[in-house]
Amino acid sequence: MAGASQDRRPGPLAQGPRPVWLDTDPGFDDWLTMLMLAAHPGLRWLGISVVAGNAPLDITLANALAIRQLHRLQVPVYRGCDRPIAGTLDTAQHILGAQGLRSTGLPLPPAQALPDGDDAVAALLAALRHSPMPVTLIAIGPLTNIARALQAEPDAAARIDELVLMGGSTERGNHTPAAEFNMHADPEAADIVFRAGLRRRMFGLNLCRQVLLRQADVDQVRQWPGQPAQCLADHLDAYQRIRSANGSVPMPLYDPVVAAWLWQPALFGFQSARVDIELQGRFTRGMTVCDLRPAALPAANAELAMTADGPAVVALVLQVLQRALQA
Ligand code: RIB
Ligand code: CA
Repeated sequence: MAGASQDRRPGPLAQGPRPVWLDTDPGFDDWLTMLMLAAHPGLRWLGISVVAGNAPLDITLANALAIRQLHRLQVPVYRGCDRPIAGTLDTAQHILGAQGLRSTGLPLPPAQALPDGDDAVAALLAALRHSPMPVTLIAIGPLTNIARALQAEPDAAARIDELVLMGGSTERGNHTPAAEFNMHADPEAADIVFRAGLRRRMFGLNLCRQVLLRQADVDQVRQWPGQPAQCLADHLDAYQRIRSANGSVPMPLYDPVVAAWLWQPALFGFQSARVDIELQGRFTRGMTVCDLRPAALPAANAELAMTADGPAVVALVLQVLQRALQA
């Protein structure tokens, strides 16, 4: 496969703590990702910028603060952008529920604390400016905050080691036949980000569909002790049942595949490609147009995750979550 690559960079531990920043729209799969980042021994987590996406910003922000509180995560949380750069906010509440995440039992206890700041874009730019080494920027929601940061300070791109994102697809979409939700939610932001001068590593739906969560995995989590684990299990159960009320149809794991790559990069295979964002298409707006042809290699602007050992990734996610919940 032309342009095929295995990520062989030394793991974070070999380079000392890797500074990371998370941009997110919790969202249950975002919740899993937050836990996996917090449990990673080789990361220095600088902050969380919250963006509107799965639900309006007030809800995604409340979810982020509640998740931080439930698991006593030591990371600042900042309010980000509440609408896309163009057009109006189109959420996933019709699938995920009014709160952007559902439970088949225990609710997520509401947060008491307020965000650490109301300008996530400024906070992200400050973190990039003050970090002694380039930052791994992890994006698992619409790219509005990141696009706004690059518009405000184009030079900030040089302080981003790599943008690692869950979004897009080399094949069909999920929010529309052509577009994946995060890219569709703010195509102009995605276009700005994919044209910026930085390294990108994209985990699209084509990859996530190889990493399938089953009811048996939920049953495993239910065995774990403690109220946070039960609360997580009840939300994992609701997430797994998105495609079928009885959970018989496996559900792809979206955002956590990014965290799984940080834990075990060798579980994934990548291919260099050219990615452009469709902005005009009547039926294709928000589509990531991925050119994997050898002739496109000179113009490649992303490493696309193409293969994963799905069962091993699911096992890793559960192993890391169990460790995080026992901490
Ligand atoms: O298409 C999947 C993405 O959309 C995930 O990030 C999920 O959390 C939603 O934001
Ligand atoms: Ca998300």
